[in-house]
Amino acid sequence: MSDGEVVIQFEGVTKKFGEHVILSNLNFEIYKNKITTILGFSGAGKSTLLKLILGLSLPSEGTIKVLGQDLAHLENLALREFRRNFGMVFQYAALFDAMTAYKNVEFPLKEFTELRPSERDHKVRHLLTSVGIDEFGMRKLPSELSGGMRKRVGLARALALSPAIMLYDEPTTGLDPITSKMVNDLIVDTAEAHKDRGLTSVIISHDIKATLKISDFIAFLDRGRIVEYLPAKDFVNSDHPLVQEFVHL
Ligand SMILES: Nc1ncnc2c1ncn2[C@@H]1O[C@H](COP(=O)(O)OP(=O)(O)O)[C@@H](O)[C@H]1O
Ligand SMILES: [Mg+2]
Repeated sequence: MSDGEVVIQFEGVTKKFGEHVILSNLNFEIYKNKITTILGFSGAGKSTLLKLILGLSLPSEGTIKVLGQDLAHLENLALREFRRNFGMVFQYAALFDAMTAYKNVEFPLKEFTELRPSERDHKVRHLLTSVGIDEFGMRKLPSELSGGMRKRVGLARALALSPAIMLYDEPTTGLDPITSKMVNDLIVDTAEAHKDRGLTSVIISHDIKATLKISDFIAFLDRGRIVEYLPAKDFVNSDHPLVQEFVHL
């Protein structure tokens, strides 16, 4: 579909829980420097797919390669290391409640890099500033920040280790329309800002309007099968009845 570089590759991937087939023979690729959204109704298998991409769960059949690496071939420790390639933005920001915004962003840098304190400080401030958090906001606890601000901090934290892949789980679910727009703009701006070093964005969503606006590619997941996968501009013209139903919700 694209002549771009493949970053995530699913080959004949099936995921079962007991006899229950949750994902069925998935074959698709996610391309570098693109925003790809996996769209589907609740229960379609989106969260299960995300766990497979992160190597938090292994496929029952088939292979998943991320940055050319078969996740099933990594030992626990190597897998944990490998996950630094991902920046994960969780549905409800998932910040550390007892840490300020600053400390939240500093955490991965302290944990996983050898930066000197002054370099680290510079980096934390740069990350937070780049997502629109000022000096005043940096000193606040998550509980003192609005939902939109928490998302910004979560995004800054996810970007701290310069991941190759950003994963967004339902980034706008539960947010008001104005905050949703802000988050969507932030996803696009982040993708743009990091294009030079290579940043691939994967979004899990059931928000059709936002998806059409911000994605390069859309995969429609229905009951564990990808029934449509198209450039976003062609998606509304899909003649798949479920896609049409979704588009006209
Ligand atoms: N650990 C599990 N054990 C058994 N069934 C599961 C498990 N995780 C998810 N499922 C089932 O897989 C299906 C897809 O779930 P999920 O991936 O959470 O969908 P979505 O995120 O699209 O709403 C659901 O029917 C759910 O009940
Ligand atoms: Mg889910």
